[in-house]
This record gives sequence, C-alpha cells and structure tokens, in this order.
Amino acid sequence: MSAAEEPIRIGEEDRVFVLTGAGVSAESGLKTFRDQGGLWEGYRVEDVATPEAWEEDAERVWRFYSERRKRAGLAEPNPAHRALAELEQALGERFFLCTQNVDDLHERAGSRRLIHMHGELFVSRCENACGRAPFADHKLYESEAEIARCGCGGRIRPHIVWFGEIPLEMERIQQEIDRATVMLVVGTSGAVYPAANFVRWAGPRVRKYYIGPEEPMNAAAFTRLVLGDAGAVLPGLLEAGNRE
Ligand code: APR
Repeated sequence: MSAAEEPIRIGEEDRVFVLTGAGVSAESGLKTFRDQGGLWEGYRVEDVATPEAWEEDAERVWRFYSERRKRAGLAEPNPAHRALAELEQALGERFFLCTQNVDDLHERAGSRRLIHMHGELFVSRCENACGRAPFADHKLYESEAEIARCGCGGRIRPHIVWFGEIPLEMERIQQEIDRATVMLVVGTSGAVYPAANFVRWAGPRVRKYYIGPEEPMNAAAFTRLVLGDAGAVLPGLLEAGNRE
C-alpha cells in the first residue's frame, strides 16, 4: 500500500460483505485461471470443468481435480486470508465472506462465516440427486477404476460448480448483499457471472472497494480501486480501518 492509500474505514454500524476470487490465493502459490493463458494445469476448461466433460471422460476430470487437491493441500494461507479472518473476529456477525475459490485457505486462516459459491475442492458428492449429502473427501482419484461409487450406483464427483451449473447458496448471498454497507472485492477478474454482478446488486450507498494488482472488468462499478497484491495491501488497509 502506498503511503497515500487511505485506510478503509469500518465503523460500528457497518456490515461488511467480502467477495474473493483466485487472486486472494495467488500469493499462496495457487495459480489463477487467468495466469495460465486459458489453460488450467495444462487442461482446457471445457475438458475438465463442465458437465459435458464429466459425461465424456470422468477419469480426466478426476485427474484434474486430484492434481488441484494435491496443490491446494501443500499451500498455506497468506496474509490476505489472515487479514480477512481477523476482520471477521472483530466484526462477528457483521461480517460475511463469499468466495469463488474452491480451496480451503480461508478456513485454514480462521474464517468461519463463509460460503463457497463455486463448491469445495475437498468435498465430493454423488453425481445423482439421490439425497446423499456432500461429504469431506481428500482422496485422489487418478483412474476410472478408482472413482468411488455411491450406494445408489452413481459415481462420486467433485462438489464443484462447473461452467453451466448454478452457483450455491444464491439466496443467502443476496440477503447478505442487501444488508451490507461495505463491499470488499478481492482478487477476481470481474469476468465470471453472477459474481461479477454482486457489486452492481449492492445499493448506491454501499462503499465498494476492489483490491488486486490490476483493474477488474467491472472496475467502473466500484467506489475505489486499491491496486496491489492482496497479501501486501489488505492487512494494512483493514487493520487501520478497524482501529477507528
Ligand atoms: N492479489 C489480488 N489479486 C490478484 C493477485 C494478488 N496477489 N494476483 C492476481 N490477482 C487477480 C488478477 O488481477 C485477476 O483479476 O486475480 C484475478 C484472477 O482472475 P481469474 O483467474 O479470472 O479468477 P476469478 O475471477 O476468481 O475467476 C472466477 O472463474 O475460473 C472460474 O470458477 C472459477 O471461481 C473461478 C471463477
């Protein structure tokens, strides 16, 4: 943060809604989608992150998510994750975090009031709507034969919202946006909907801040852009505001 960067003021009456994207985990060593020239761990998105890909080649899909499980398992939360967990500690139920990330670094930093709108890397579920709840799963599935089966006969798939599927918990997210007075958006390109629209759903009196090294595609909708790496700028930016 430059010396001229004003802290973000969060007062007694404020309610904070935070949206994070791949950029918040970049300094933990997890590559963002945009970093990779349209390829994700060497795969095209449509080959690994769509319902069609699952139907066509479930083994390829699981190899991809197994690789991501391995990488996320080795990563550690960075100062940006920790700053958001500390803000939650200070604000309690006046804080809400919605992440587009499927890694568990926010939880490992201490965040509790959070929703993973695009699912979770370390959770699996049955491919059928058989009623079995999603369950914690750290296993790696690297061949067709290893893919677990549900009691109903369906294959076990990653609990991930693929392109073309509906994000999770949209009603709760909308409620939290409706009552927020401050919106912090961290490390997301503003290109993937509906998350890219959250800043527009928030009312005109809501103060809206973007934190990341480059302008997002929806930059015009923000009150202020704080350009810098989240791990470098977020701790100072929020700490100062908190002491108000
Ligand atoms: N700190 C903050 N932001 C960063 C950092 C950093 N250190 N490094 C990169 N960024 C920003 C980039 O400037 C970019 O705007 O993170 C953003 C990453 O953009 P994307 O890779 O497009 O990630 P995201 O916006 O989270 O993608 C949304 O699309 O790939 C799908 O479902 C997936 O949840 C994901 C969704």
